[in-house]
Order: sequence, then structure tokens, then C-alpha cells
Amino acid sequence: MRMPRGGRLFLATCLGSLVVLVLYYQSAEKLEADAGTGGRLKKTRTPLQNLYSGDQQAQLLADQKSLQGRRELLERACLSHTKKRRVLSPEDLKHLIVDDKHNLIYCYVPKVACTNWKRVLMVLSSDGRLTEPLAIPANEAHVAGNLRTLSEFSVPEINRRLRGYLKFVFVREPFERLVSAYRNKFTRSYNTAFHKRYGTKIVRRHRNRPDPRALEKGDDVAFHEFVQYLADPRTQREEPFNEHWERVHSLCHPCLIRYDVVGKYETLERDAHAVLSLAGVDDTLRFPTSGKSTRTDGDMAARFFKHISPFYQKRLFNLYRLDFLLFNYSMPEYLKT
Ligand SMILES: *[C@@H]1O[C@H](CO)[C@@H](O)[C@H](O)[C@H]1NC(C)=O
Repeated sequence: MRMPRGGRLFLATCLGSLVVLVLYYQSAEKLEADAGTGGRLKKTRTPLQNLYSGDQQAQLLADQKSLQGRRELLERACLSHTKKRRVLSPEDLKHLIVDDKHNLIYCYVPKVACTNWKRVLMVLSSDGRLTEPLAIPANEAHVAGNLRTLSEFSVPEINRRLRGYLKFVFVREPFERLVSAYRNKFTRSYNTAFHKRYGTKIVRRHRNRPDPRALEKGDDVAFHEFVQYLADPRTQREEPFNEHWERVHSLCHPCLIRYDVVGKYETLERDAHAVLSLAGVDDTLRFPTSGKSTRTDGDMAARFFKHISPFYQKRLFNLYRLDFLLFNYSMPEYLKT
């Protein structure tokens, strides 16, 4: 059967993107080798060269060892738990923020200090116009267009950046992140957009005999109803998860993009410092961490999961399983599965 014109075009596009991936992987290997030898001769090094050159101060070196451990674990987990390599398209790169001044690519994950990272990247790419991350209002940090994403560039331009820039992502224990998303989006009265968009649907679908007020406002979704919504196969058939509860592997493609630094929310301050040092940013710019936002209170998720049945606990764990495995989080002890 003859392939329709549209089909052929589509195929051509796919092949184009495939080249992206292959080229990129080859050069990443090569760069790593180069950075260890010839890279040292250069006066100003890129963050990527800083990371792989290996002549750092002791503290940074120790941090890099643990970062290297995470990279290797991620690579092994990708090999054993994901199927054949898929082809990346520019559409997959919407969460990757680019800083051309410092040669950085950051994949943002909501509920993992992403507002502060966006603020820092706005400062970094502002040419000195902005100096204090916390002076940038949170809503401004999220305005599309204030920062550039990798998806905006042409395929060769994407390739060049993937090859030469330091790519980093910050992750968090998946259920802590999920509970944080639930609390933020469903228990705060000001989040009316989320109540309307998701809350009303959850109430309609997962509550027995809902009252008309709840059906209209969607502002009193219980955690177990949210869990049922996530576990319901219809949910993902209709549309992808919202980015606040979408899994990191779907947002950032860590098995297709080779991240140089996998930072963790649990060690946010140290890991953020490591990234900024690699980027050659002087100490006047510090990553904003307030005691409140970095505290990992560990049993928040346990409190919420106590009231979820073993059946749904298991369903939910399976949904987020890959994020647990790829980023070395163990199955929570409070689960009754
Ligand atoms: C993985 O997690 C375990 C348990 O928390 C830890 O001991 C180990 O160092 C971690 N491995 C890596 C490579 O980070």
C-alpha cells in the first residue's frame, strides 16, 4: 500500500529527530574523554568541562563522586527498566530551560523547588539587570517567555546545546512530591483554577452522591479521591497528567537525555551549590533556600497514605514506580502492599 503524503512527511520528521539523538549520544561520550585531558588547557571552561575535568577542590570533588554515583545508577536503571529507546522530538523538550550565557539546561519539575530555579535562571540570563532571585515574584518566574526552552530551537541548535551544555534536573521522593502537589492544588482556597479544571471532575467521577455545591466548585477533593482519579485508567486516556503530578520520567526523559547532574530536593542546598559552582557563578548569587521550603518532613506522605487502602497504595506505587527506581528512592515503609 502506498503511504499517503502526510505519512511520508511524518516519517521524514521522525528520521530527522532520530539523527538528533544518535549524534548527541556519540558526542557526549567524546566530550567526557576530551574534558579529562585537553580540556584542562583551556582558561575558561564550560560547566560541562568543569564537571568532567576532575581537578576540583576536595569538597566539590566529593560532591561530584556522589553525583557520578547517581548518574551511573540512573543509567543502569534505565537499561534494566525501560524498553527500547524512543525518538525524542522537540515537543519532548518543553520542560528544558536553556541558559545560553552559562551553557546550562535545566529540566523543571513542579514541586521540586522549580520556582526558585526559574528565578535563579532569570537572574543568570539577565546580564546583571536582575541580581536577587527572591525579588522576582513567583508568578513572574512562571510566565512563559521569560525563559527560553529547548523546544523553541531548530534541530541542529537543539543538538549543539544538548552536546555542549551542562544538563541538570532536580527530583524528589515521588510520594512526598505527590502529597505536596495535592496539598498545594486542592487544599488551598485560592487555587480555584485547579478546583474548576480537576476538582469538579474528580468529585463527579469518584464521589458517591456529591452535593451540587461540590460538583460546581470542586474545592473539597479528599486525598483518597485524588488517588482514585490518578489510578483510574480513563484519566490518562483522556489527557496527560497535569505537570504537577506527572512523573519525572515523562517530563524530563532521563533515559533519553543524559543528565549530568541529578539533584535531589532532600539535599537541595548542597546540590544547588554544586550546580552553581560548576556554572562558574560567584558566591554573590546563592540559591534561595528557606528553612521551610527545604525541610523534608519525611512523614508527611505517611500521614496521607495511612488512609489509602492497600489496593490503591499498590496501584499508585505502580504508577510512580519508575521514578522510584530511576532516582534511587526505596519503596516507602508505610505502604501496606
Ligand atoms: C541509593 O540509596 C541508598 C539508600 O538510601 C544509598 O545508600 C546509596 O548510596 C544510594 N546510591 C546512590 C548511587 O546514590
